[in-house]
Amino acid sequence: MTKSLFPFSAEHEMIQQTARDFAQKQIAPIAAEFDESGEFPFATIKKMGELGFMGIEVPEEYGGAGMDTLSYVLALEEICKVDAAHGVIMSVNNSLYAYGFIRFGTHEQKKKYLEPIASGKAIGAYSLTEPMSGSDAGTMRSRATRDGDFYILNGRKSWVTSGPVAEYIVVFMMTDPDKKQKGVSAFIVDAKTPGFIRGKKEPKLGIRASATSEIIFENCRIPVENRIGEEGDGFKIAMTVLDAGRIGIASQALGISEAAYEASLAYAREREAFGQKIGEFQGISFKLADMKTRIEASRLLIYNAAIMKENSKETGERFSINAAMAKLFASETCMFVTHAAVQIHGGMGYSKELPVERYFRDAKITEIYEGTSEIQRLVISRSELNKK
Ligand code: CAA
Repeated sequence: MTKSLFPFSAEHEMIQQTARDFAQKQIAPIAAEFDESGEFPFATIKKMGELGFMGIEVPEEYGGAGMDTLSYVLALEEICKVDAAHGVIMSVNNSLYAYGFIRFGTHEQKKKYLEPIASGKAIGAYSLTEPMSGSDAGTMRSRATRDGDFYILNGRKSWVTSGPVAEYIVVFMMTDPDKKQKGVSAFIVDAKTPGFIRGKKEPKLGIRASATSEIIFENCRIPVENRIGEEGDGFKIAMTVLDAGRIGIASQALGISEAAYEASLAYAREREAFGQKIGEFQGISFKLADMKTRIEASRLLIYNAAIMKENSKETGERFSINAAMAKLFASETCMFVTHAAVQIHGGMGYSKELPVERYFRDAKITEIYEGTSEIQRLVISRSELNKK
């Protein structure tokens, strides 16, 4: 456990240790191979489900581990320290999928659609983005049209994490385009429904073992009881869920940064040049100091955001700014740290013989998905400027 003033319990230490052991023993030996092949790691994800990692904050009555947000970020950090691709699959299941049900789902929806995901028997996904609607999420074109006791879904969604494999997907569509953001509604779709079509899988720079794709809806007919919240609640649901997701991605960035830093520290202690260890050169040691300091600052922002989110369960208060600051800082730190790690390792940092080049490739997406760094700056600055 990192020395910290945060109120960690024996339960926190236990889940952190369990995640660390699992990641080291089960994921570390296969991470490079799955990164290379781009195959989805079904077997290890199934085991993570058995350990309760796929629904950490989901109440036990709905198949989850019933733990708190700090437990979630501690476990996620350990998984991402070894492999960020396993990490994003875990993060999307826990945050983008499960959190929406915890906050907004009915008891029946939770029983049917949360339980299999939280217990790790099935994989969940979240689908907001479209080819022409990314950062400006309120401009989506996909339509859900009411037809008696059903909705007919039509449209094309993109960049869906776990899209090629998910059994259930939370999707956001326009029910009333004239109302813009207030005309968006949220739905849960079983991937076996006719008219649900998985599109092309994206070839990616990093997190290659996680699967990302388009999803096409062609007259996909779902019952009204699959709507989450009321008609028009969808945009706020999407944003609330993203606040939770952003803490997950910040933890992912922290895990990658730590791995890159620890590899660099070990290398700087051992590698010699010009008659001394390279760590004795100020050019390297000052880099290490900056890496360490930014990692610790990221950690503090993330744990703080996690506690704010935990408290919000009682107070209902938004934690958007805390989540945005944590994601912004941790993801930019991750780019800084992994860039420095490759440089410290020199040629070896560029080689696939070491995982450092993978950390560098995996880092970039943390500045892009679940809201780019520019969007986080927008959320933070708007929140400050509009403060009464
Ligand atoms: N919580 C609750 N409500 C929120 C909210 C939040 N975090 N953010 C906004 N809202 C509410 C606002 O209060 C407002 O409601 P009222 O009018 O009643 O006050 C309404 O939503 C509209 O808000 P804005 O006017 O701020 O909306 P906007 O169109 O200007 O957009 C934005 C705001 C922050 C830019 C938003 O569009 C955004 O976050 N964009 C980024 C989208 C994103 O992160 N996409 C990633 C998708 S997931 C992914 O990456 C793939 C994956 O699978 C991992």
